[in-house]
Amino acid sequence: MTTARLTEQFVLGNYGRFPISFVRGEGSYLWDEEGRRYLDFVTGIAVCALGHCPEVMKRSLAEQGEKLIHVSNLYQIREQAELAQFVVERMMERSGKVFFCNSGAEANDGLIKLARKRAFDKHGADSGKHVIVTCRQSFHGRTLGGIAATGQDKVKVGFDPLLPGFVHVPFNDVSALKEAVNEHTAAILFEPLQGEGGINPATPGFMAAAAELCETNDALLMFDEVQCGSGRTGDWCGWKTLLQGTGIEVEPDAVSWAKGFGGGFPIGAFWASDDCAGALGPGSHGSTFGGTPLGSAVSLGVLKTIEENDILANVRRQEKRIKEAVSEWNHPLIDSLRGVGLMLGFVINVEALKARPAFLESGKTPSLYVVNAAIEVGMLTVPAGEFVVRWLPRLDVPDAEVDEALGLFKNVLDSLI
Ligand SMILES: Cc1ncc(COP(=O)(O)O)c(C=O)c1O
Repeated sequence: MTTARLTEQFVLGNYGRFPISFVRGEGSYLWDEEGRRYLDFVTGIAVCALGHCPEVMKRSLAEQGEKLIHVSNLYQIREQAELAQFVVERMMERSGKVFFCNSGAEANDGLIKLARKRAFDKHGADSGKHVIVTCRQSFHGRTLGGIAATGQDKVKVGFDPLLPGFVHVPFNDVSALKEAVNEHTAAILFEPLQGEGGINPATPGFMAAAAELCETNDALLMFDEVQCGSGRTGDWCGWKTLLQGTGIEVEPDAVSWAKGFGGGFPIGAFWASDDCAGALGPGSHGSTFGGTPLGSAVSLGVLKTIEENDILANVRRQEKRIKEAVSEWNHPLIDSLRGVGLMLGFVINVEALKARPAFLESGKTPSLYVVNAAIEVGMLTVPAGEFVVRWLPRLDVPDAEVDEALGLFKNVLDSLI
């Protein structure tokens, strides 16, 4: 039976999948069952930070797998504590405490619980201080907490009653944020660089206003860096990249990560500042698989490799090379290229695409249409909403592979006008 048939028969039909099944990966390349090679600029949607099957992951999986795979958070776990130390000292460069889980949605659920519990402890059950303000077009995961926090109706439909206590404001709208935040606000939560919503960076003014409103309303400023964190923007912290050169400094109270944090091993985490971390004391939160010896060792190996090989500098260099090349194209199908680091979004000029009858007949969104055309030439990209095509290559992608991607993608665009 083909993989497609097997999947259709036995796997829940909750994903719209491309009809490709990969059997092998190495670096930036994937091979499908027919032996066809693809240049992968999706990397599992910003997960495989060092590409497919990097040496450090193979080695740490084998070495830690020989020693100890799982115990329980009933006990002290050395690898987990060392990973937490790396997060505090190297990524955040600020004291605080780290919690480990298995995914981005779970990390964000943890943030929601942290904000509620901290407000409850400090202001009492009758204060009504439990509201979390999030942004439109955001994406915070598929758990009940995640879909309630997410500012997109499409993830919520059919799942009522939703978890109450969320208010969504238009992204980067400072006056709407000011209107929404009050004494009932427990936290403001947003992605410094929205991923699924279309590669939308938060403006420095919005971040500064959020920080100030949290200060005056005794609320937590929480960043979802599940997609834009772990080095994807060229810094460990996405918001720092976006604030560079502005003179504005923002210090969040809590930050979540997953995706690239484990380089392909399923692990999520959040950091909480010393001021609020104590709200989640013994018995208040937990996860059987959070921060296992195996997961922690692999994640730490990935993050240390990024640091020790100055891979963040490569992210910034390749961003510059890509942006320069694309701006030279001045391509009629591309309205703009947005995003930072290696989290980039090509905004499709829909009117130009509409001139093509095959597009109109396809019934596909503009981004999906372009993504499909790229697959035809052996390149993987991913939509971010209806009008944006995302590039999320591995962080250590070399010049030659970026050049190959630029060549392939330009040919795809040329073929569509
Ligand atoms: C910003 C952001 N938050 C949370 C999530 C959910 O992460 P996960 O799928 O690991 O639960 C995602 C996934 O795309 C994301 O991009």
